[in-house]
Amino acid sequence: MSRPIRKAVFPVAGLGTRFLPATKVMPKEMLVVVDKPLIQWAVEEAAAAGCTDFIFVTSRGKSMQVDHFDHHEELVQVLTQRGKKAELEAVEAILPPDGRVISTRQPRALGLGHAVWCAKRIVGDEPFAVILPDDMVLADTPCLKQMVEAYNRTGGSVVGVMDVPREHTRRYGILDVAADDRREGSLVPIKGLVEKPAPENAPSTLSIIGRYILQPEIFDHLEKGERGAGGEIQLTDAMARMIGQGPFHGYRFRGTRYDCGDKAGYIAANLAFALERPDLAPAVRAHVKRLAG
Ligand code: G1P
Repeated sequence: MSRPIRKAVFPVAGLGTRFLPATKVMPKEMLVVVDKPLIQWAVEEAAAAGCTDFIFVTSRGKSMQVDHFDHHEELVQVLTQRGKKAELEAVEAILPPDGRVISTRQPRALGLGHAVWCAKRIVGDEPFAVILPDDMVLADTPCLKQMVEAYNRTGGSVVGVMDVPREHTRRYGILDVAADDRREGSLVPIKGLVEKPAPENAPSTLSIIGRYILQPEIFDHLEKGERGAGGEIQLTDAMARMIGQGPFHGYRFRGTRYDCGDKAGYIAANLAFALERPDLAPAVRAHVKRLAG
């Protein structure tokens, strides 16, 4: 029986340099897709997967994304007085129960692996999920929920994966795999992992997106603080060292992934998620038609 995934870690300390000037003051994770910031989409996905504890790894000037999950008494009073029930529901429904939002800091920008390591004392000795909020997945069953279901069958570690064009391997952690039936919803046993390889060196085009289920032993490897690609402490490198120590699979999720850290990807995500909303789809479809026509 796989141990349950109760805790989700959100590494949200980054500077968001790919999205300047929008992210000069505002954290990247507060960028809005349709009507919710990226961090809310991520927390909702974790909750849908059964997570009950939400751990934010933030940095200087990035408290806004934690405040977003705070009770806002003044706003509640005003909305109540004005009888704005739907709005009240929208701001209250997102709040995890008291004590379930936990914030820690990544004081120095040493990489994703270091950010996850900063959550070590809060995660403790249990498997956990990591969500990178700028990766959004539009899917019938939320991506992390699909992964938890797969994990319940295999145990060990599971990363969300998809094929990317070979010329893009430099942007991702890439899998070395033995067998791969290429079907969505399938699990791919991992032989090796390499962070951001050049296209000619990439062992495949199967790449990690920002969804992870990890065993706590990952912290032993992160602890060493070894630098990898870009001089950063890479999560991918620590995961690579865990291969062979227990089951380790890539999960080909069902759905479409949008890179919201990229301006074009972000705009596409807004359109795709808006077209899923019955209240917005007709108007958005009309705009798209007019612009594309
Ligand atoms: C990070 C990881 C990389 C992964 C990617 C997914 O890279 O290091 O392995 O493929 O997220 O979005 P970053 O986008 O932070 O450079």
